[in-house]
Amino acid sequence: MKREAFSSKIGLILAAAGSAVGLGNIWKFPYIAGENGGGAFLLIYLACVIVFGVPLIMMELYIGKRSRKSPYGAFRALSGSGRWQWLSWLCVLTAVLIMGFYFVVTGWCFSYLSEALIGGFRGMSTDTLAEHFTAVTANTPRMLVFSILPVLVTSAVAWFAINKGIERMSKLLMPMLLLIMLIMVIRVLMLEGSMSGLRFFLHADFSKITPDVFIQAMGQCFFSLSIGMGTLVTYGSYMPQEQSLSQASVQVVILDTLVAFLAGVIIFPAVFSFGFNPAEGPQLVFVVLPAIFEQMSFSWLSGVLFFLLLGIAAITSTISLMEVVVAFIGEATATTRHPLNRRTSVCIVTGIAVVLVVLCLLQQTAFSVFEQLTANYLMPLGALCMSVLVGWTLSRPDEAAYLNEKGFQPWMVKAFSFVLRWVVPAMILLVFLHGLNLF
Ligand code: PFF
Repeated sequence: MKREAFSSKIGLILAAAGSAVGLGNIWKFPYIAGENGGGAFLLIYLACVIVFGVPLIMMELYIGKRSRKSPYGAFRALSGSGRWQWLSWLCVLTAVLIMGFYFVVTGWCFSYLSEALIGGFRGMSTDTLAEHFTAVTANTPRMLVFSILPVLVTSAVAWFAINKGIERMSKLLMPMLLLIMLIMVIRVLMLEGSMSGLRFFLHADFSKITPDVFIQAMGQCFFSLSIGMGTLVTYGSYMPQEQSLSQASVQVVILDTLVAFLAGVIIFPAVFSFGFNPAEGPQLVFVVLPAIFEQMSFSWLSGVLFFLLLGIAAITSTISLMEVVVAFIGEATATTRHPLNRRTSVCIVTGIAVVLVVLCLLQQTAFSVFEQLTANYLMPLGALCMSVLVGWTLSRPDEAAYLNEKGFQPWMVKAFSFVLRWVVPAMILLVFLHGLNLF
């Protein structure tokens, strides 16, 4: 069977950016930055994006494009043996654990969207908004409905596969999200007291930098860019042959970082202007955003549009998470006596996702453990292993020649392979050791 592919270059960019841009940028980035010193965190985050982001995205897309396979077959194809097979299991484990808490937060968005639709935040004070968040998320039956809804939406898109589902959704939604964020930036900067928030976000106070800030920034970089768990390997396998790996990687990184940055520029001025605490934790945006909408003209429309787009940004990410597992099941069973087709795999993954969502809803600890473990440890670990594998693979002349595309000269291939072989693994290990407080 011919492998499906994106129909255009922009299709891959938008799908990869759709995977990258999500709750990680708008929900997680501001709250992690708020807890870790604002500007100091931003600085280290940007350093991580440059050191890890661009090379690792390029590496994953290369693995997929070269092998035309998802992680299950790709690592085998690249290494020429089954010795790296376990790495595809690590990718799947990470994807499944992320799904657990990610669908729950997507459920918060859907729930807030439904409230925005009926004008539910009207007249709420800042104190009431915080209490409201606690009350809404503690309502388990309600959250169950709102968290399972995105699981079903994601399954429906996965059911219709690549061109019709993923590509079409991403093309429509990404530009809309950027537009509404720009409108919000302008409104927020006009609020009284907004400048102290901007200063908190843009001014680096080095005394705030602790070992934990490094771990958090690196984890956030991996999480936000969807690196280290095979999502981009999978999407790379659908990449048009003529598309440049290096250009695609830079474009995705720029888009993702822009959205995270805009989220910070929206949230922090509002936090300071309304007297919230920037270290509020996971509820930060859910408390602050409705407060911003109350101040805006067309408050109903802005609220509805924003939560709609946030929900959709989350869905383009969950689609890519599900795709990792669905493609894995398809490939892993292809040569067995019971090969599973795409739709059966989608049903299996849907079942697993529902179980994990219920677990995260009932157990706050599961939610936090999955969130921290995946971003801060499993994704960097996956990236470290892939980086070693690809770094050494590139010593083969045929592989190096493959990378030598337009605009990517032989010396760049050498530098790239050096970075993957030594720099990335060393940096990840260093951050791990640093995080364990060994220095
Ligand atoms: N990058 C997504 C975000 O920032 O919300 C989260 C994510 C999606 C991580 C898909 C991993 C992944 F495979």
